Amino acid sequence: MSRLTRRRLLQRAASSPAPTGATGTPLGAAAAMTAGATVASAVAAPEGGSDPAAEPRTALRFPTGFGWGAATSAYQIEGAAKEDGRGESIWDTFSRTPGRTSNGDTGEIAADHYHRWAEDLDLMRDLGLDSYRFSISWPRIQPDGTGQPNQRGLDFYRRLADGLRERGIAPMATLFHWDLPQALQNNGGWESRDTVERFADYADIVFRALGERIPVWLTVNEPKTVVQNGYLRGHHAPGRQDPDAAYLVAHHLQLAHGRAVQAFRATGQPGRIGPALNLHPCYPADDSPAAAAATRLYDGYENRLYLDSVLTGSYPADVLADLGPQSRLARGIVDGDLAVISAPVDLLAVQYYTPIYVTADGGTEQRWPTSVAAWQQIYPDGMFDMLTRVTRDYGPIPLTITENGLPTADILAADGTVEDTGRVEFLRDHLTAVHRALAAGVPLESYHVWSLMDNFEWEVGYDQRFGLVYVDYATQRRILKRSAHWYRQVIRDNGF
Ligand code: FCB
Repeated sequence: MSRLTRRRLLQRAASSPAPTGATGTPLGAAAAMTAGATVASAVAAPEGGSDPAAEPRTALRFPTGFGWGAATSAYQIEGAAKEDGRGESIWDTFSRTPGRTSNGDTGEIAADHYHRWAEDLDLMRDLGLDSYRFSISWPRIQPDGTGQPNQRGLDFYRRLADGLRERGIAPMATLFHWDLPQALQNNGGWESRDTVERFADYADIVFRALGERIPVWLTVNEPKTVVQNGYLRGHHAPGRQDPDAAYLVAHHLQLAHGRAVQAFRATGQPGRIGPALNLHPCYPADDSPAAAAATRLYDGYENRLYLDSVLTGSYPADVLADLGPQSRLARGIVDGDLAVISAPVDLLAVQYYTPIYVTADGGTEQRWPTSVAAWQQIYPDGMFDMLTRVTRDYGPIPLTITENGLPTADILAADGTVEDTGRVEFLRDHLTAVHRALAAGVPLESYHVWSLMDNFEWEVGYDQRFGLVYVDYATQRRILKRSAHWYRQVIRDNGF
């Protein structure tokens, strides 16, 4: 890798992910015809009917059967870090290292979901969720990342999946949401190809133990975030700043995804499987040809690196050329790897938070107001652009949105309410964009809010609250925010 590329990658990593008013091109008629779903845009029902529950009071109706969900991940909510044989993960190590997280926060207790799971499932039922996306903690299943499974770990997820099904909620499980067993990190972590095989073994164990209970599996959550935050910026575990290592890690995460898909097919189980990718629509900051070219390459690093490899079986040529033939990524590709990475998937899970505006010199610029997370510009049209682009560029693969949400400075008022009106507005605007994408023919089947409840938000610990449900960490009491009440009504009405 050239010094220039190395410098650019580090600079890019240092700037926040980054919206022209360009809102992308609607899908053509052909794509619209391939959509599995049809959209009824109903007219607002008259006010004050005799049975308000029977008459949706909505202007936007979603397709019948559209799935409404919410998402979490193991390390962010479970706590019980030392219980029932769980091993250490890289996030235990990282968060315990002084200076790594706000206030030294860790996920050791988090929202104590490991003990309160039944109460949390009741909450989900009360909200009316169709689907719940959670992740499985690898160090609960294999404390050191290898060998015989820890039965108590598997039992926890079995109870969880059964509890969901008893309440009429479809479980959606992510295999890896960043909590790598520390023992594997000690052996090189995702820089080591061996970790890919360890992941395939772990996936096999989990599929065989839980496969009958879980209709939808997601492999690796946001490989890009591990690459950028874990290995470029270094503010996520394992806290490295090494561009060469970063893109080898990208390759191994993609390979791990593919090996998990293969392991899943080998079990012959009936469920569906796919990757969970955070996609960032990239827009040029101005009209110059230089900004257009820089945006194209930026998009390669943000989106095509992950999408192309899984869905077309090749890495984008511009990114490979930019990294150079001597990069660890280029040297790490073994014959047959791309065939593994592109093993056919059943669906693609997409996560959208923010757009990126790219300047002519390859930097980024802020165009829209941010949330309390400096990296997040609030731009609902980016959701539409991202969804329609995936369908246009990769064909009508079924999509699910597995994350979209907003951190707000929520306050539990003396009267016991949490008035998170900003979150309601954010969700309404983004769901409006989702609805437009459906109308344009995007085969989207479900939507999951990030997050069901407040939780450990990685390097900012408990400072940022993303939940529909407020968690009072001192008492572990759960309180439905205004957004939860709003979302419940959306689910009931199948629209708003
Ligand atoms: C995503 C992560 C999720 C959460 C949200 C805010 O990148 O997958 O765990 O932290 O951001």
